Amino acid sequence: MKPINVGLLGIGTVGGGVFTVLARNAEEITRRAGRPIRITAVADKNLEHARAIVGDKARLTDDAFSVVDDPEIDIVIELIGGYGVARELVMRAIANGKHVVTANKALLATQGNEIFAAAQQRGVMIAFEAAVAGGIPIIKALREGLSANRIEWIAGIINGTTNFILSEMRDKGLPFATVLAEAQRLGYAEADPTFDIEGVDAAHKITIMSAIAFGIPMHFAQAHVEGISRLAAEDIKYAEQLGYRIKLLGITRRTPEGVELRVHPTLIPEKRLIANVEGAMNAVLVKGDAVGATLYYGKGAGAEPTASAVIADLVDVTRTATADPENRVPHLAFQPHSLVDLPI
Ligand code: HSE
Repeated sequence: MKPINVGLLGIGTVGGGVFTVLARNAEEITRRAGRPIRITAVADKNLEHARAIVGDKARLTDDAFSVVDDPEIDIVIELIGGYGVARELVMRAIANGKHVVTANKALLATQGNEIFAAAQQRGVMIAFEAAVAGGIPIIKALREGLSANRIEWIAGIINGTTNFILSEMRDKGLPFATVLAEAQRLGYAEADPTFDIEGVDAAHKITIMSAIAFGIPMHFAQAHVEGISRLAAEDIKYAEQLGYRIKLLGITRRTPEGVELRVHPTLIPEKRLIANVEGAMNAVLVKGDAVGATLYYGKGAGAEPTASAVIADLVDVTRTATADPENRVPHLAFQPHSLVDLPI
C-alpha cells in the first residue's frame, strides 16, 4: 500500500526517539496503521546533529517552512515547541491541508482554540497525545475509553521534572538545583525549566485535559498556578513526619459554579497510590460517573515514552485519513462548534 509521508519539524530528544522507534518497530506500526509510515523530510536548525540521526533516510533542511509547503507531505509532526515559529508552522500546515501531530502543550493550551477552529474548517486533524503525560495514552483514554462517562474530576502528577525533584530531595536529601540539573541532563525538563518548576507546564497539560474531559475551550489564563520553587527541604521532611508526601498536582473538576482548574503542591497521605509515584513518572486519576475512579501511570517524559505517544497519533491519523471520507469519524479533531463553555 502507498506509504503516508511525514515531515518532522525538530529532531531533539523526542524527535530522535520518534525516528528510532519508527525504524525499530516498523513492522508492527505498519500493520496497525494499515500502510507504511515514512518520515521523508526532517527540518532542524542544527543540521549536523540531525544528519547524525537521520543519515540519508530523509531529506534534511534547516527551513521548516519548506517541509510544511512540500506537496508530498501528508502529516507534519511539530516538535519545535514554544508559541512563536511553531504556531506559524502549524497554522501554515493546516492551511496547506496537512494533518498535524504535536507535543506542544504550551501552544495548544494558550492558542488551541484558534488552531482547532482552523483545523476543523480545513478538514484536517490535530493530534496531541504526546502533549500530556508523555507515554501515558491519557487523551485517548479521556476521548475514547471513557467516552460513556460524565467526567467529574481529574487529578494528576503531570510534570516529570518536578516529581523527580521532589523524589530526589526526599530520598537522597539532594539540593533542588542539583536535581534540576540532572532532570535537564536526562531530557525531562523544558527548554525553559521555569515552566516546570513554577507549575506552568502542568497547567498547560491540565488545561488540555479539562477541555477534552468537559468539552470546553482551553482556559489556561483562568488556571491557578503555583509551582514548587518555594518549597524547602524542611517542608518535605515535616510532611513525611506527619505521614504525607508532597506532590505537584494538576486538578480540574466540575463544581456547581463551573469548572475548576488549578496546579499546586499538595499533601497526600503516604498510603495513597499516587503518593508513591516517584521520579519522572506521571500518574493521572480520572473519575467518571459510570466507571468510578481510574488510574493511569507511566513515564511522563523522555525520548521514547514521548515518541510512543507521537507515533500512536501517526497511526491514528493514518488510519482515519485513509478511511473512506463518507465514513470517517473525526474523533481526533477537536470540535469547537459542539462546545458548551461552562463557567470557570
Ligand atoms: N518537562 C516536561 C516534564 C516534559 O517534565 O514533564 C514532558 O511534558
